[in-house]
Amino acid sequence: MCGIVGAIAGRDVVPVLVEGLKRLEYRGYDSSGIAVLEPGTVRRVRRTGRVVEMEAVAAQKGVHGQLGIGHTRWATHGGVTEANAHPHISAGVALVHNGIIENHEQQRERLLGLGYTFESQTDTEVIAHLIHHHLRHGSADLLAALQAAVKELTGAYALAVMSADEPERLVVARMGCPLLVGLGEGENFVASDVSAILQATRRVIFLEEGDTAELTRNGVRVFGPDNAPVQRAQHLSDVSLASLELGPYRHFMQKEIHEQPRALADTIDAVINAGSFDPSLFGADAEAILAGIEGVKILACGTSFYAGSTAKYWIESIAGLPCDVEIASEYRYREAFANPKHLVVTISQSGETLDTMEALKYAKSLGHRHTLSICNVQESAIPRASELVCYTRAGAEIGVASTKAFTTQLAALFQLTVVLGKLHGKVNAEQEADYLEQLRQLPGSVQHALNLEPQIVAWAERFAGKANALFLGRGLHYPIALEGALKLKEITYIHAEAYPAGELKHGPLALVDEAMPVVVIAPNDSLLEKVKSNMQEVRARGGELFVFADQDSNFAASEGVHVIRTPRHAGVLSPIVHTIPVQLLAYHAALARGTDVDKPRNLAKSVTVE
Ligand code: F6R
Repeated sequence: MCGIVGAIAGRDVVPVLVEGLKRLEYRGYDSSGIAVLEPGTVRRVRRTGRVVEMEAVAAQKGVHGQLGIGHTRWATHGGVTEANAHPHISAGVALVHNGIIENHEQQRERLLGLGYTFESQTDTEVIAHLIHHHLRHGSADLLAALQAAVKELTGAYALAVMSADEPERLVVARMGCPLLVGLGEGENFVASDVSAILQATRRVIFLEEGDTAELTRNGVRVFGPDNAPVQRAQHLSDVSLASLELGPYRHFMQKEIHEQPRALADTIDAVINAGSFDPSLFGADAEAILAGIEGVKILACGTSFYAGSTAKYWIESIAGLPCDVEIASEYRYREAFANPKHLVVTISQSGETLDTMEALKYAKSLGHRHTLSICNVQESAIPRASELVCYTRAGAEIGVASTKAFTTQLAALFQLTVVLGKLHGKVNAEQEADYLEQLRQLPGSVQHALNLEPQIVAWAERFAGKANALFLGRGLHYPIALEGALKLKEITYIHAEAYPAGELKHGPLALVDEAMPVVVIAPNDSLLEKVKSNMQEVRARGGELFVFADQDSNFAASEGVHVIRTPRHAGVLSPIVHTIPVQLLAYHAALARGTDVDKPRNLAKSVTVE
């Protein structure tokens, strides 16, 4: 959460900073700001609200410079005010920060004692003063002052710092938050993520934990945690600019929903091309590791947790291995039992969710030896900390509400399931061929589900006026009901809850009356008749039913029962196909309510705080 960008060049860097901040807005959109060097001084512009508002003020004030830093904020310490917006300045030292400083209160006390005053309630302002203090007391230059200051911090940070007295350098530091350096010709950049600087360069260096670096126009020097110079590999980013543009779509969420046939086809491409589920999908050493495990433990948050919850059904029924799924923020703080023969699978779109990262570290500290990460962002922290990796190939996901990341996570988890099933003698050649065929048909089935959009728009308009909604599913489709409720609540702000349909009579049925819409995921599987009985229970209390049923499930619409038919039953992959209508329902209900679909209130895409 929070995005940072910085540049040192022989041209005006304000357009680079502003463009970068717009691309980083998914990381936080409470406020934004830039600081640039003007002869002998640092000039700063900050605004609450969106980057475009800050951009307009910067243009009106005629702010330009060849060295600058920028920030987009998701508020943690201190409210959403201009005073709390970054950059923060201490007598000519300006900085932007992503992360949380845990010992900021002690440092604040100490700095107050040294005569510093504070203008904000942020943890970040202490870092600016601390660097300034070191500059005045022995540090040879800005880099040395930064290196001395970070040794006194506990917590997580990505920092970019400049000083009015040192116009030829930009210094940066990284611990626990992503930061990369972009290499240009006669200009260099720093950013939380490559999308922010893609318009200037594709050549990047991913900084490692504890690194600091100094950027001048003509060079970059990186230093390891002991401040000794180190070489870090250069990478050429393959993120496409087109993937960061809206194109003909109104919102990124809409674009990303419609990209799912392509994203799924890319994610399953290797298996389809090979004509088999090969363990090497998960890394060169995967076969021996996956053959030796006796169970699976999945750790994740939010939508990724629901992907894991679906996979539990697959792993236990297809691969015949015990599987438990746990919310990462719960697991990391409980005295958990660790079975070193169980594979720990983390699922994360961003690869930098703090709770998932900490849960992974905790699992390792408890003795788990084998770890696998399913992730959408190359080189991010969680896959780097994992033994085996499977990258989903969804492409950049910018809408805060996760869509294509979820369905591609499911596709990756299904591939893991079949690989495990083969290695553990539960999936024979005939079954493998059958699963392969189901996977081959998946992008087409998802496209058919997308074609239901006009019917779903009509439903969404009815949802827009509701205060509450219930989602029901059973078995494999219960996690899809959970995902549908999460999508609806996060982008429409309608209160929505999901239940396994059989659980309704144990309490939630009390909520059902004429005002309660009840969405039912009702594919033509072995639980269909049970779901139908649960629907009767709702109808008998006046609840209005909105049913997503398969083409072949022989469902009739009637008074108070609305039915949309999804494609022919997609077998074990049905949860992926049934995700599409609930995404579309949430999207169109949000449109009808006029909420900010891509940037829902209070949220940010990449959750790097507790
Ligand atoms: C909901 C959503 C979140 C994320 C969660 C985990 O639409 O996007 O619930 O799924 O914050 O994020 P990742 O997958 O990046 O670890």
